[in-house]
Amino acid sequence: MRFDIISVLPELLESPLNHSIMQRAKDRGLLEVFLHNLRDYALGKHRQVDDYQFGGGAGMVMRPEPLAACIEKLCAERIYDAIIYTSPDGQTLDQSLCNQLSMKENLLVICGHYKGIDERIRQKYVTLEISIGDYVLSGGELAAAVIVDAVGRLIPGVLNDETSALFDSFQDDLLAPPVYTRPAEWEGMKVPEVLLSGHEKNISEWRHEQSLERTRSRRPDLLERYEKGEDAA
Ligand code: ADE
Repeated sequence: MRFDIISVLPELLESPLNHSIMQRAKDRGLLEVFLHNLRDYALGKHRQVDDYQFGGGAGMVMRPEPLAACIEKLCAERIYDAIIYTSPDGQTLDQSLCNQLSMKENLLVICGHYKGIDERIRQKYVTLEISIGDYVLSGGELAAAVIVDAVGRLIPGVLNDETSALFDSFQDDLLAPPVYTRPAEWEGMKVPEVLLSGHEKNISEWRHEQSLERTRSRRPDLLERYEKGEDAA
């Protein structure tokens, strides 16, 4: 799977994508991430990428020409399954959208900055707008890093334990159960007996119950979706 990311601050993306699971995904040839500096497509000797907004108001807007030049160049080289714009007014990223994106081959991500990008770029090129939550970041780079991480780890072969993504919180609309490691007793607190029993069926039933309980108390909205899904199955 390949991500191309257009940004005015590509340095912001380097560290999150060059460590741990993302680095392993790249080392294994399962994930490629190419960063494109929008300034390379900037206008005039001042390398301008933004300008005042028509109609007045605080904040600059990213001009259409450098973005269009960069997008056109990339689109001439390959066909993208989606051209994504990271924006607080996009569709909220959730596990279901991550699952769908993890099955794509080529994704192009445009990181917004300042007040955002000229609306005409959204109309002409963007096919999917994604928000990572109801708050405003100072730029789209962190959102792009979240998307690459959440999607990239779902590519088969990226996680060492192939099944572990299946048990993530949200994967079936339930939160994950509590987890424990050694020591079996710490500060007077004991690991639940069933987890030490080696009895796979009991362990799996216990985990399911704990997932249900955790979801019921913390995210009743998810439990409703889960119960509807079970009825439909
Ligand atoms: N850019 C600024 N805020 C954002 C958000 N919440 N999600 C995605 N991109 C953004």
